[in-house]
Amino acid sequence: MDNYIETLTQIIKERSGRLGRPLTCQVTTFGCQMNARDSEKLLGVLLKVGFIEVTDDDADLVIYNTCTVRDNANQRVYGRLGALKPYKKKNPDMKIALCGCMMQEKTVVEKINRSYPFVDLIFGTFNIFDFPRLLCETYERDGKVREIWDKTDIIKEDLPIKRKYSFKSGVNIMFGCNNFCSYCIVPYVRGRERSRNSEDIINEIKGLVDDGVVEVMLLGQNVNSYGKNLDEDINFAKLLRKVEEVDGLKRIRFMTSHPKDLSNELIDVCASSEKICRHIHLPLQSGSSRILKAMNRVYDKDKYLALAEKIKEKISDISLTTDIIVGFPGETYEDVLETIDVIKKVSFDNAFTFIYSKRTGTPAASMPDQVDPETVKKHFDMVLSTVQETARMRTGRFMGGEYDVLCEEINATDPSFIDSRMSTNTVVHLKGTPDLIGKIVRVRLTGFHGFYYTGKLIDRVL
Ligand code: SAH
Ligand code: SF4
Ligand code: F3S
Repeated sequence: MDNYIETLTQIIKERSGRLGRPLTCQVTTFGCQMNARDSEKLLGVLLKVGFIEVTDDDADLVIYNTCTVRDNANQRVYGRLGALKPYKKKNPDMKIALCGCMMQEKTVVEKINRSYPFVDLIFGTFNIFDFPRLLCETYERDGKVREIWDKTDIIKEDLPIKRKYSFKSGVNIMFGCNNFCSYCIVPYVRGRERSRNSEDIINEIKGLVDDGVVEVMLLGQNVNSYGKNLDEDINFAKLLRKVEEVDGLKRIRFMTSHPKDLSNELIDVCASSEKICRHIHLPLQSGSSRILKAMNRVYDKDKYLALAEKIKEKISDISLTTDIIVGFPGETYEDVLETIDVIKKVSFDNAFTFIYSKRTGTPAASMPDQVDPETVKKHFDMVLSTVQETARMRTGRFMGGEYDVLCEEINATDPSFIDSRMSTNTVVHLKGTPDLIGKIVRVRLTGFHGFYYTGKLIDRVL
């Protein structure tokens, strides 16, 4: 690995010497937090070997780290790729690389080879650790490198990483997924569940804290089944206990919790923790037991409702958010009413509502009764308006109170404001200066704007 990093450093030095300027790179992430974390690894390598990061599309190296969970993610990649072609014509030294979940699909790679042959490097989710070698080859062979694996047992621990935020970080605790929800392509493109050793995770978190991180987000497609393939005596609740002990760490988040595996032990750990944030993302997908069965989600409506109730009872102030799919094959108006019923009963703080997208190779793709787009749109609007209404009511419960928030970034529309987050993940905009970023401060919530608050700084906690 180090050898390739050294060789790459030489290659980049030689090229930038020839051009009389540093080489620029852009890494764009599509999809989930896992992909975002992978992109930080790619960028870590690139900065280490001498690139400078830019956001422009005419960079000397452009990498798209892709997602294929829904078709619109794929379409966005194709759109962006088409727009890159003129830049590549202008700058023959430019390199374009594609990686991530979309590349694990054979038909996608075939299409790119056919319609976007100017792409220099394609690799997948299983060999991202090999990126330094793959990029070396791309420069040495001048393009046309394609290497996609269909599985891996390797969990590589030592890639350099460039974090997007200095004060918070994602931490992979597991890779892959074994659940095979019938609509979902993730198990096919990310492979079987593999957990990292708890010691490696804790060491990584300690390192992050030494480097200024105060909040970690533990990442996995189903964190509740963490540890199942490990020899150690560990599960997710026990891992959380260990993470909690890391000195200097202030906040712990995790994503995503599958309702079927959420244990009482986990609820107890969260309830008694000072550091674990008051937020659980608990994807519902559908409120109809019939549809949930066809989705292979393994819980039904009543089980979900009982679980949500138990969590709310045991963890004060908890915020629950969710994902919902509208338009799964066979979904009727009555099924949608069941979903709406759950939304009203649970009263989520926020919900991401998606239109079902047919993914080739998944069981749902070949189910009869695919719902026509017009009906789906009507159902989607019904669900969305219920979500917006209930989320507004639920999130408004904090108004007037005092809370700790982590200051995250300068507000995009008014730079005299800082965007921050409560433990519940609720966004608060507060008047303040950029030196607050990365700090946890105490605010009073003075205005509620539907899904976020404005607040006044009372005190610096850290
Ligand atoms: N592992 C997580 C979800 C990862 S994908 C979990 O099980 O909760 C994120 C969300 O995308 C899912 O929760 C689901 O709501 C949505 N999704 C996945 N496949 C989809 C599809 N084919 N069409 C529409 N939405 C989909
Ligand atoms: Fe997809 Fe289900 Fe796995 Fe989540 S748990 S990644 S929805 S298969
Ligand atoms: Fe997308 Fe892959 Fe994540 S398909 S949602 S980037 S695991």
